[in-house]
Amino acid sequence: MSLPSWSPDQEPIYDIGKTYEENFAKGPFFSGPIPQRVKPPREQWYDFLGFKVASRLGVPAGPLLNSNWTTFAAHMGFDIVTYKTIRANAHPCHPLPNMIYVNTNGELNKHRLDEILVEQKYTPRNLSELSVTNSFGVPSQGPMYVMEDIEKAQKSLEEGQIMIVSGMGSHGKGDFIEDYARSAAIAKDAGAKIIEINFSCPNVATGEGSIYTDANTVYMIARRVVKEIGATPLIIKVGYFTQLDNLKEVLYAAARAGARAVCGINTIGMKIINTEGKPALGENRLSSGVCGSPIKKGALEFIRYARAIIDAEKLGLTLMGVGGITLPEHFDEFFNAGAEVAMSATGMMWDPYLAVRYHQIHTY
Ligand SMILES: Cc1cc2nc3c(=O)[nH]c(=O)nc-3n(C[C@H](O)[C@H](O)[C@H](O)COP(=O)(O)O)c2cc1C
Repeated sequence: MSLPSWSPDQEPIYDIGKTYEENFAKGPFFSGPIPQRVKPPREQWYDFLGFKVASRLGVPAGPLLNSNWTTFAAHMGFDIVTYKTIRANAHPCHPLPNMIYVNTNGELNKHRLDEILVEQKYTPRNLSELSVTNSFGVPSQGPMYVMEDIEKAQKSLEEGQIMIVSGMGSHGKGDFIEDYARSAAIAKDAGAKIIEINFSCPNVATGEGSIYTDANTVYMIARRVVKEIGATPLIIKVGYFTQLDNLKEVLYAAARAGARAVCGINTIGMKIINTEGKPALGENRLSSGVCGSPIKKGALEFIRYARAIIDAEKLGLTLMGVGGITLPEHFDEFFNAGAEVAMSATGMMWDPYLAVRYHQIHTY
């Protein structure tokens, strides 16, 4: 089947002009054909944390807001889908705007983190230039909804597909570490087969976002969550590291705590202004996470370094790559750099055929 081209002629499946609630209730917004999936023979399927998957392509925590979204992504050839980060209690979304285009003038790196970026008012013609900032504040439904919906999401997967459920703790809800354990317990009770904990959201005002650079906190939380979820594999989600030593101590901490995998990178937090020079997302959100093309180089650098450390130190962690995958050939850049799984968030929202295009290149 010849696949329709998508962005910029077709709109993204998440409507950035609409509220989160509307996208949650009515999305994904998609009216193209659902392609017939041709899977490789079973003996070529991959082992991912003890589960057989038909491919190593996935969607990370974020774009898949509920079971309608996870089911859609699975139908579109993503075999590892992540249910959006849940909290132990319901939590509202930041007001609009939640996503805007941004002009980064190329790739971001550790020397550019203090720069101020400017909003861009138009959709790029080429997905290799897709650069966005997002700020949602990790909204979550309450436990009752989440439990039912996770079960529903799980049931809709085909053989050779698996779902991860992402969770995190919230400040101001009693003991922070215990709140991480509560969110993981909800995921486990709902039947999650693999659980991820988010240590790295730059869009929360409370300091929840930078846990991933603190090896001791990573250890304490991961160890507590492992105790909670027992044999269910645990992934930790990390952000962009500026120092190699720091990455090394965090990978050690994760492995020592019993985590089975590490997934990175999250968005890179930057200050964003509009063309009038005012904070683009309002006075209360001076910085927000940049995702898409400009973070691919940083994400690949993370994968190369993490691969080298995991192998040299025999940490046994599975390595999952995300950040800036917007074209089908980008998945292989991550596999070649040493990732065992490659995932796309922004790219799949702007081109829902991204995984299918990859599968078509790699005909079985
Ligand atoms: C709309 C959106 C929402 C996101 N929400 C979460 C989240 O709830 N939890 C999380 O761990 N990461 C979240 N992320 C980060 C992504 O998982 C990913 O790490 C990041 O966007 C970089 O990948 P990309 O360049 O493919 O977008 C979100 C990203 C996007 C675009």
